Formats: sequence, C-alpha cells, structure tokens
Amino acid sequence: MVTAMKKDGKMSVAESDAFVFFGATGDLAYKKIFPALQALIRAGQLNMPVIGMARAGWTLDKLRERARDSLEHNGGVDADAFVKLSARLKYVGGDYQDPATYERLRQALDGAARPLHYLAIPPSMFATVVQGLAKAGCAKDARVIVEKPFGRDLASAQELDRTLHEVFPESAVFRIDHYLAKEAVQNLLYFRFANAFFEPVWNRNFVDSIQITMAENFGVEGRGSFYEEVGAIRDVVQNHLLQVIALLAMDAPVGRDSDAMRAEKLRLFRAMRPLDPRQVIRGQFHGYRDEAGVAADSQVETFAALCLHIDTWRWAGVPFYIRAGKCLPITATQVIVDLKCPPVAIFDEIKPAQSNYFRFRLSPEVVISAGARVKRPGEEMVGDAVELVARHSLVGEKSPYERLLGDAIRGDASLFTRDDGVEAAWRVVDPILQSPVTVEEYEPGSWGPAAARAVVAGDEGWHDPKPEETRPC
Ligand code: BG6
Repeated sequence: MVTAMKKDGKMSVAESDAFVFFGATGDLAYKKIFPALQALIRAGQLNMPVIGMARAGWTLDKLRERARDSLEHNGGVDADAFVKLSARLKYVGGDYQDPATYERLRQALDGAARPLHYLAIPPSMFATVVQGLAKAGCAKDARVIVEKPFGRDLASAQELDRTLHEVFPESAVFRIDHYLAKEAVQNLLYFRFANAFFEPVWNRNFVDSIQITMAENFGVEGRGSFYEEVGAIRDVVQNHLLQVIALLAMDAPVGRDSDAMRAEKLRLFRAMRPLDPRQVIRGQFHGYRDEAGVAADSQVETFAALCLHIDTWRWAGVPFYIRAGKCLPITATQVIVDLKCPPVAIFDEIKPAQSNYFRFRLSPEVVISAGARVKRPGEEMVGDAVELVARHSLVGEKSPYERLLGDAIRGDASLFTRDDGVEAAWRVVDPILQSPVTVEEYEPGSWGPAAARAVVAGDEGWHDPKPEETRPC
C-alpha cells in the first residue's frame, strides 16, 4: 500500500498523482468516465494529468471532442471544468501488445510517482496490459481499477486475481461494483446499524422471507454481444444483488476500517448456500434473439428468479428470493422484508397475512418504509394497511462513478470489492452456471415466465414494485 506521513505524524494512504484510463475511446469511458472526471474536476479533486490510452489512430483533439460529446449526452458540459479537463488530458495511442506503447505512457506520466490505472477494457486484455505496465516501470506504487464482471465463474475469477496479483498487491486493486456507491445501497447499511430498533427483529424469529427485485423496462440496448457472454445472472445477480443481500444480512462490522466491513461481508458470502440449479428459473424476452450480436438460438437468460439460503443462526430457514430481468413492466430495484404474522390472530380480518414489512426502494427513488396496519374508524375492529414512509432526496448525490474514482484516487477501498469476497460470491452462483439450461420465453412488459411465480413459496407470491407515489421529501 502506498502511504505517506500526514502533518499529525500518522501514516495515511497517499493520493494518486496521475489518472490513466485504458479504453479511452470505448463505451464505458463515454458513458461514465468522462462525466465522472468532469465532476471530480469541478469538485477540485482531480489536479493531475489525465491520460487516455487507446489503440493508435486517434489524436488528442479527437479525444477532447469525444469527451465533449460524451458530456453533452451524459449530464452536460460544465464550461469551466471542461476547459480544465481538456488542458489535463493527454492521449497515448498504440497497440496494447507493443512495449513501445507503455514506453510512451511512461513519458506521458512525466515523473508521476503513484499513477492510478483504470482498465476500462475487456478482461481478456488485463494480463497483457498489467504486464506491459510492469515491464515499463509504470506499475510501481500504482493502483489499478477493474470493472465487473470479474471473470465468468469462480475459476476465471481466480485466474483474473492471479493475473492482477502478479503485478499489483491486493491493496492496490480496486474492483468497481457501482451498486456499492449508490446512496440507497449505502443507506441500507447506515439505516440498519444507526438505529437500535432494527437489530431485535432482524433475524429468523421475526423475518418470514426477503425478496429483492431488480426490474428494468428496457432490453439490452445495443449491448447484444456483451450480453450474450454474460446473461442476467453474471450481469447483475452475482455482483449487484448479492452485494445488496450482504449489506442486508451481514452482522455489524467489528472495527471501522474498510477491511472490517469487507471481512464481515465475506463471512456472509461464505454462509450463502451454493445455488441449486433446480431452484432457478431463467427467462428470455421475446425479441432478444433479433438483437444485433445475439445468436438465433441463444439460450442466454435476460431474466432470472431464484431462492437463496443463508446458513447462519440469524438467517437459517429464511428464504431470500431474488429476481432480475430486462423488459419487465417497470424500472425499479426494491427489497421487501416480510415479517412474520402476529403469533395469535385476535383480528382475523388481516389479509394479506404479511402486512408487516420493511420496504427499501433502492432505485430510481430512494424510499424506506414500514408496512403496518391501523384501525379503520368505526365500531368494528378492522383495519387498513398503511406505510410509514421515509423518503430520501437525491439532490446533490454524487454519481457512483464520481464517488468511486474519487475514492480510488485517495486510496479508500471501502466501497470496492475484495478478491476473497468476489470469489466467495462466485462460489454461490457457480453451480447454476455450470448446469445446462434452456430458457423460457416471456413477453416484454410482463413479469417474466409464468414458472417464476412458483419460486416464492406460499400464496403471497412476488411483490411487484409499483410506481412510487411522488410526495415531497
Ligand atoms: C450494470 C449492468 O452493471 O448495471 C446493466 O451491466 C444494468 O445491465 C445496470 O442495466 C443497472 O445499473 P443502474 O445503476 O443503471 O441501475
């Protein structure tokens, strides 16, 4: 780890002094990296050279144009910040296989001692690039950022980690899962551990089941060939949704540093029972096979519904239902924690039985609510279901990428995933990736294949996220 002496005499993690991004002309740079860089400059957090790496054939002016175009389409151009970004931007072109490319990078680094290298490129290129960096002396005291998916399964994730660790120690590797930087996802952890009333009910004695739905009302949006390699389970379940479950279900960390948090999450991942292929329903929306880059007989899932178990004293016997899909009726990610019924039914009008719950709307709105029953005015002891709602304003929220790149520059790994945690999460999904499958077709705008209903035990079924009522925060 790169450390430096602070004024108070304590050792602190040193800031990076150059930002290098491979894949500067690619999709991720266009949609996420340039907007985050502009935001960091506006916040005064990027006073360093910004070096865009790409294949040969570009020029610095062309890269600046690309940056402007990216900003125009992703949040807008801030004239002052853009002038600064343009001035800091450098372009280094060349074949990633060619040692001369890294030699040019070393010159462009111009003596920077702690560069941060962002590999916004396909994982198949990682080995070539990290070796290239090392041989040219650009990896010393450097950090590296990589994007999900980290591998395709447990074996390839381990291989990827070996590749990175040949050059970078784990403390210098920053793996992005942008879900972890969402305000709403961080709020899960905050709300749980900043309020004492939660802990007594947060276990198998009071919780009946937990559901998480990540619904998107759009398809693969031109990313057909990427999606063919991935599918819904690798794209969002193994990472975003298992991370959300870890934050929901983990014990309180012992200590305040980023490793204490990640150690507690690791314990939770390790307690997740590997998924049983018989308990997973996979769907594919009608029309997916017509997308560019998609095989005519593709069996890649655009929808998955499954049941997960966590074998701890806290959660034994509590099913965690997970559902994710493209082309569903709404775009929303939501967690419902259903509480058990009162032990004795004094008022037998209570329908549905599960009218006590906690609801966490993670996107696009941020809402935490508790479902309860209150008596209806009148002589009878009958009531209505109400929600006690806490809404969270997103005004001023940093984008996940701005937050994560800023943290990586400062060397703060709290919101990044660690090698052991990522591998433990692959261990959970590996059995369902290895089993041969056929997908069931569903109509766009539906809640996936009919068979998905049977994943949830009992009569209640899935709680479909609904449009959120708009009320002031
Ligand atoms: C990405 C997936 O990681 O997350 C996409 O690759 C998905 O398929 C996206 O649409 C959802 O993230 P967000 O932040 O847009 O809800």
